[in-house]
Amino acid sequence: MPILTATPAAIGDAAQHLAAGRLVAFPTETVYGLGGDAGSDSAVAAIFAAKGRPTFNPLIVHAPGALALEEAVVFDGRARRLAELFWPGPLTLVLPRHPRSRVSLLTSAGLDSIAVRVPSHPVALALLRAAGVLVAAPSANRSGRVSPTSAAHVAEGLADRVAMILDGGTCPVGVESTVLDLTGDRPTLLRPGGTTLESLEEAIGAIDIAGPIAPDTPRSPGQLSSHYAPALPVRLNASRPEEGEAFMGFGPVDGATLNLSPTGDLSEAAANLFAMMRRLDDSRYRAIAVAPIPNHGLGRAINDRLRRAAAPRPS
Ligand code: TXA
Ligand code: MG
Repeated sequence: MPILTATPAAIGDAAQHLAAGRLVAFPTETVYGLGGDAGSDSAVAAIFAAKGRPTFNPLIVHAPGALALEEAVVFDGRARRLAELFWPGPLTLVLPRHPRSRVSLLTSAGLDSIAVRVPSHPVALALLRAAGVLVAAPSANRSGRVSPTSAAHVAEGLADRVAMILDGGTCPVGVESTVLDLTGDRPTLLRPGGTTLESLEEAIGAIDIAGPIAPDTPRSPGQLSSHYAPALPVRLNASRPEEGEAFMGFGPVDGATLNLSPTGDLSEAAANLFAMMRRLDDSRYRAIAVAPIPNHGLGRAINDRLRRAAAPRPS
């Protein structure tokens, strides 16, 4: 499994792999994605197999622009407005499946909706343009584990399961896209992420927040409780570490093993979150204690990921 710096030639090779139905890991502004042709049942099946992901958990379809999605999903006025304002960028819209959609039903887990997004990372955009197919791409980690924000993270989890890893450096946003469901009358936030709830509400008005759901009937199965889980237990809202704990700080705290952002900057904290979680997930410690993070802006996505990392593990 070669890790290749994302030169134009390497992007061209990766696009050929995708067009031929093979899997490629590539950088986006949020996290690395594990991409395959969204129209190919066998490519999408290979994604689920590589991740060890349950096939009832649908994938996001990536395109180089809204135009490429016109015959995949149905845009209403709200969707057009949000696409105009926030794409390319870390926003995923769940929209009704277009009657002529060629997206594999496996991609959307048989639902009558499809999640779509236009990433802003230049490597992702170049790859999507060159591939000429819509690309289904979950985060490039084994199911339930911490999402990858570097090519090395991808290699740790998926080493022999992809044709190529395109290395585009560290992901600048660091948490996954915000998932917004527009299939009903009221827009509903299914997953907080790299686009803030505040900025979305400014654009389209009030947004409902999806409540907790039964784990076997997930509305957005990224809502499954334990997720983003390091091997060590995680303790939230800690003001200081206890004996044997690593301490992930935020703002001007004492005794941090690593600090998400010493100045208390939420963008910096989001960009550092998954890499620092991996670095502290070390058998020298017995647990990871995490300082409190304010719950606004990107803090909402950070707290969501931290709560899942701290959730009881399936036995
Ligand atoms: O930032 C991101 O979104 C990254 C990069 C690679 O683009 N991708 C990502 O994919 O995070 P994944 O598969 O890890 O998360 C996709 C989320 C899941 O929570 C899934 O349940 C939800 O989107 N989802 C996908 N299709 C859906 C649908 N039709 N209805 C409701 N939720 C959906
Ligand atoms: Mg994921």
